[in-house]
Amino acid sequence: MTLSELKKKYLDFFKSKEHAIVPSASLIPDNDPTALFINSGMHPLVPYLLGQPHPAGKRLADVQKCIRTGDIEDVGDNTHLTFFEMLGNWSLGDYFKKEAIEWSFEFLTGKEWLNIPISKLAVTVFEGEEGIPRDEFSAGVWEKLGMPKDSIFFMPREDNWWGPAGQTGPCGPDSEMFFVFDKPDCSPKCRPGCKCGKYVEIWNDVFMEFNKNAEGKYVPLVQQNIDTGMGVERTVVVLSGKNNVYEIDEFQAIFRKIEEISGKKYVDFQKSFRIIGDHIRSSTFILGDQKGISPSNVDQGYILRRLIRRASRHGKLLGITEPFLGRLAVIVIDLYSNDYAELKQNKDRVILELEKEEQKFLETLEKGLKEFEKLLKTGPEHTIDGKTAFDLFGTYGFPLEMTRELAMEKGMNVDETAFWEAYKAHQELSRAGAEQKFKGGLADHSEISTKYHTATHLLHKALRMTLGNHVEQRGSNITQERMRFDFSHPTKMTPDEIKKVEDIVNEAIKRDMPVSWKEMTVPEAKAEGAIGLFEEKYGNQVKVYTMGDFSKEICGGPHVEHTGTLGTFKIAKEEACSAGVRRIKAVLT
Ligand code: ALA
Repeated sequence: MTLSELKKKYLDFFKSKEHAIVPSASLIPDNDPTALFINSGMHPLVPYLLGQPHPAGKRLADVQKCIRTGDIEDVGDNTHLTFFEMLGNWSLGDYFKKEAIEWSFEFLTGKEWLNIPISKLAVTVFEGEEGIPRDEFSAGVWEKLGMPKDSIFFMPREDNWWGPAGQTGPCGPDSEMFFVFDKPDCSPKCRPGCKCGKYVEIWNDVFMEFNKNAEGKYVPLVQQNIDTGMGVERTVVVLSGKNNVYEIDEFQAIFRKIEEISGKKYVDFQKSFRIIGDHIRSSTFILGDQKGISPSNVDQGYILRRLIRRASRHGKLLGITEPFLGRLAVIVIDLYSNDYAELKQNKDRVILELEKEEQKFLETLEKGLKEFEKLLKTGPEHTIDGKTAFDLFGTYGFPLEMTRELAMEKGMNVDETAFWEAYKAHQELSRAGAEQKFKGGLADHSEISTKYHTATHLLHKALRMTLGNHVEQRGSNITQERMRFDFSHPTKMTPDEIKKVEDIVNEAIKRDMPVSWKEMTVPEAKAEGAIGLFEEKYGNQVKVYTMGDFSKEICGGPHVEHTGTLGTFKIAKEEACSAGVRRIKAVLT
């Protein structure tokens, strides 16, 4: 079984169950203030799980590209990856537990589908807790389908609850499916969830019927949803009888190329090969994304920088002295461009950016390593202080976990709390915010970010009124503290222009205009004069948000109901972002 075969089977199966197949969303979330990357199939669908109608209907299925860098240290073991593809099927207030489980069972065991013998499967269901009943219903459905009673396990919240993806949002109990390897129980307590390797989770059906609110309460959602997730790489490995994710053909192809470049063998340098293989896949997908991220010292660009640099350092450990990641990216692009056309479209950019970043890093790596060597004189068990760790980052471009990795190799520690203090001071972020962003975590759509989101539309329009209609959005990012907006414009804005834009936005706020939205096709939106990114998403229906007579823009939301709630808008900074693109940072007070 190959990745492509599994993906095709899955989508064909759900097509036969009347699901609309939707394309993978970009890896970069839309106006999500604290999430740097899409981390699961449900993540781009949150507004629809909360009740907004989806243009493609109530039954969806897709393959979503995902990035999770929270466990980046574990990459190199048998299971952790920073990039992976997730298969999923969704019911948005349509079918619920019974159908979801029946279809999971049919797909797993059906002769023309995965054809897994029932004896090789185990499932778990939620054991219940105060206020949420034991899920006898799901257990009953599994039993009726032929799952033996002793292969159905009731488990607590820590095992059988999924979500929310951030601090608030849709979540619920789940039923997980495991492939059972021919291994004796490791102990009397051995059951799904045990780390001994007997049970490997391959699929998760989440019964999303709660919304966790800001007070931590679980409130029933307006609709009962299904969210499922099947990791493509892991499932292929399991079905092929292999024991680690790096045995898929895609990684093997990358490893052969690394062997050719370095003259070293995978078997002798497994960890470095795996880290390079994982990180080049993530970097290629981030650089080649629809939203085209470049390495930088903030946000997604910083995660990308860390991935590239860590891969580069491991290249160095293999004795490679020249930039080589571009050559590996070509392999990744060839392997995946049938499914992700954006990789092919952005091929030149991906290779160029990789080479630039590697070159830059190699220039400071030697010097940085010399500085690091000096620290060793202080002896083992020494802790590298935060300032030194930050200097290694600021001056020599060493990402924190690279310093940590180097330190660990020498039996040293790093004062990470102090590193974050220094990072925070540098980035004007709260420490929690900095750490959260660094980990690529996800938080809630809070009130303040919704306000910033609405302010983004007002700013976009005010810029067009002031500078001209050549102004187009190139990117946007919202945190709890500020909004950032990138737009096409050739020259620095004058103080007068900045003042004028602020005045227009503040006037639009004062007029307290109602905010409403309508669904239409892209040509209809264009005909109505809507601005915004005309990205083809979920078929051809898009949402158009209107703010009084002032602005009309394609967007997924959410927004405030009246502009009057935004407060006062102020541009804090206007600067160059890249050739022909300016960047504004602004605050609401
Ligand atoms: N959202 C669930 C997961 O990511 C299906 O596992």
